[in-house]
Amino acid sequence: MDREDDRGNQGRAVSVAAGAFERGENLLVEGDCLDALADLPPECLDLIYIDPPFFTGKTRAAGGGRGAGAASFGDSWPGGMDEYLDALRPRLALARRLLSVTGSIFVHLDWHASHYVKCEMDGIFGADNFRNEIVWGYESGGRATKFFARKHDAILWHTKTSKWKFNPGASAAPRNMCRMCGAPDENRNHMKKSVGPDGRAVRSIRSAGKVYTYADDAPVPASDVWVDIPHLHQKDPERLGYPTQKPEALVARVIDSASSEGDAVADFFCGSGTTCAAAARLGRRWIGCDISATAIDIASKRLRALDESGVSYARFSLISADSRKKE
Ligand SMILES: C[S@@+](CC[C@H](N)C(=O)[O-])C[C@H]1O[C@@H](n2cnc3c(N)ncnc32)[C@H](O)[C@@H]1O
Repeated sequence: MDREDDRGNQGRAVSVAAGAFERGENLLVEGDCLDALADLPPECLDLIYIDPPFFTGKTRAAGGGRGAGAASFGDSWPGGMDEYLDALRPRLALARRLLSVTGSIFVHLDWHASHYVKCEMDGIFGADNFRNEIVWGYESGGRATKFFARKHDAILWHTKTSKWKFNPGASAAPRNMCRMCGAPDENRNHMKKSVGPDGRAVRSIRSAGKVYTYADDAPVPASDVWVDIPHLHQKDPERLGYPTQKPEALVARVIDSASSEGDAVADFFCGSGTTCAAAARLGRRWIGCDISATAIDIASKRLRALDESGVSYARFSLISADSRKKE
């Protein structure tokens, strides 16, 4: 994120993005989201997923993958947490303005700042509109020797109002399946196993004088702890070499769970275009924005390839810094 006073002339993107979006185009926009998306009509977005810099204090550089070259983005904040939150706050406020009344925002962070950002989100969206802190757990790399290894991210979910979309089926898996490995898990609980009247295997348990019975093969929505989506390892074919690229399956679960086909999804910090690709595959309209020309270049190639493979929602218009200069 750039500080508010660093915006320069990126505001030129404003009318271009709004016009193209109103014509029904999907958009990849190069620029600071605070300016580039500011002129979109209020309440035009149904879902926003953002994966902003995490307040790591480092420059995040590419760690391998296809063709990312020198991709990197800054995540240093000499003014500390105050400076970070000062930069994030107006972008979250813009997100709220652009969300529809049944809209949702998911903010992907980790231990560095998630607890501070939760307070900001509660301030902007209302603590009553907080829905979940999703814990995305993954196994990667080494182990710390002086404390427990930090192997999860936090995804904060707030809704704009007390009415929102939630599709529990999007994350459902059969009750008798191990979410980690997909294999049948016979020992997964202590419930009594029997055969139901329709011949299906069922489990039952008595609690507080009541008997609860569940079919083994009935789908069960995920809890707020997700451990079944691996992070992208160095040689993962999905990997494009963009630093901190997230798995498409992770963002797809968010989109599928909290929006409907044809809805408009946006990512204000889109990096390699993960949200745009997941939204396109799920038949959503989308806007991706990033301040980095390298990110937009990588995302463009990704979405173009998807378009060429026949995913109709992958077609997009590119609003680059160059195209703005030509205005
Ligand atoms: C953690 S990365 C996003 C990675 C992305 N989720 C993916 O899967 O590739 C954060 C991104 O935010 C971008 N960024 C930082 N400040 C921004 C701003 N003010 N407006 C738009 N993008 C910004 C960086 O360039 C970087 O690409």
